[in-house]
Amino acid sequence: MQKLIITGKRELKGKISISGSKNASLPILAACVFSNKAKIKNIPLVKDIFTMIELLEFIGLKIKIFKKQNSLEIINNERKINTLAPYRLVKTMRAGVLVLGSLLTKYGKAKVSLPGGCAIGTRPVDLHLFALKKLGAKIKIKNGYIIAEAKKGLKGAVIKFPSISVGATENAILAAFNAKGKTIIKNCAVEPEIKELIIFLKKLGANITLSGRTITIIENLQKVSEINHDIMFDRIEAGTYIIASALIGKKVLIDKINPKILKKELEILKKVGVKIKKNRSSLLILENKKFKKINIVTKPYPGFPTDLQAQLMVLLTQADGVSKIKEEIFENRFMHVPELKRMGAKIKIKNKTAYIEGPTNLTGAEVMATDLRASVSLVLAGLVAENRTLINRIYHLDRGYEALENKLNACNVKIKRI
Ligand code: EPZ
Repeated sequence: MQKLIITGKRELKGKISISGSKNASLPILAACVFSNKAKIKNIPLVKDIFTMIELLEFIGLKIKIFKKQNSLEIINNERKINTLAPYRLVKTMRAGVLVLGSLLTKYGKAKVSLPGGCAIGTRPVDLHLFALKKLGAKIKIKNGYIIAEAKKGLKGAVIKFPSISVGATENAILAAFNAKGKTIIKNCAVEPEIKELIIFLKKLGANITLSGRTITIIENLQKVSEINHDIMFDRIEAGTYIIASALIGKKVLIDKINPKILKKELEILKKVGVKIKKNRSSLLILENKKFKKINIVTKPYPGFPTDLQAQLMVLLTQADGVSKIKEEIFENRFMHVPELKRMGAKIKIKNKTAYIEGPTNLTGAEVMATDLRASVSLVLAGLVAENRTLINRIYHLDRGYEALENKLNACNVKIKRI
């Protein structure tokens, strides 16, 4: 198993370019079932994307990867389509469950492995199935698989989600794309990645509008078969490097982003004391050594994202006083805390709230990555800690951060993969 060795206390300086969004790419790849030919640019070449590509090839799509251009060409010539998403592919990458909606609505059936839980929580899919049943799907669970059928196709309906779910909203949109009649989906997640999926489906001819937390999809017949799309930037990767720059940077340019999408994150980071100069498609993070404590609760967009919770926690170890982070989205998303404490962080957890005392000097240690965002919080801690930090199980990191060492080593940091 590969590890990362980080030499702490090296000043971060230079420019970091942000890759395309993993969480926008995954539902868009599931939507490529609908097109005959899709050319997709600014794809992040991370493990989860390769797993989704493997899944689409298993289903029968033909995919060409142009690594140098971070782009894909995806062909669906409708021959030998296998509407099955096997356990071995879905167990490591939960977003594989997103092909359920697209396969079902296009081919009238789908057999998709239940994703199972992961380190941060049980990750149920009841809301996904709730939405598909509303559209007329017959759903059975057997031997760990979701077996869905819609012999006469799906029929538009009103779907009112009892709670907000990104994945369930995406599956509902994908299924409704090809349903007869009109579908209204209420209490939707409205993350930027969902708006990106809507833009993609509109290019495929969808008649789809989003207002507030309601999405309306009206069946339309002019299906487009060939499309091009540039994936939006990864706002969580951007937030991660903004925090890295705040922790140990003097002057760092973060580019290839749209600062307007980072409104809430920037508001919170400025409150903590991060010095940020906004440009049209980049941010300049300036040096600051004094950070203020803050209390935040993770919320669905446009609230503070749970995917930045672990990273912000590292910054708050350097803030004056006791900060509070309440994790309201996932039931077990504090796996990074015991590892950060081994590096000297002073953190207590009480009913889903972490109390972080600062400022504390962190010291390098051997630590263990447990999930994607927890692992990157250990990298951030390693950057600001004394001496060297060794991070085990960095396959978690490779799921969602493209070329992390290269991006940081190009900015005077010393990170080595062994
Ligand atoms: C997406 O996961 C993201 N993944 C996650 O990012 C992100 O943390 C999460 O949204 C929240 O923003 C992708 O987009 C691929 P949810 P998703 O359905 O769709 C519960 C990362 O680090 N729930 O919005 O699985 C669920 O247990 C990943 O990139 C149900 O109860 O998240 C959770 O408590 C991690 N039933 C809450 O809703 C369901 O059917 C929010 O989950 C579905 C979800």
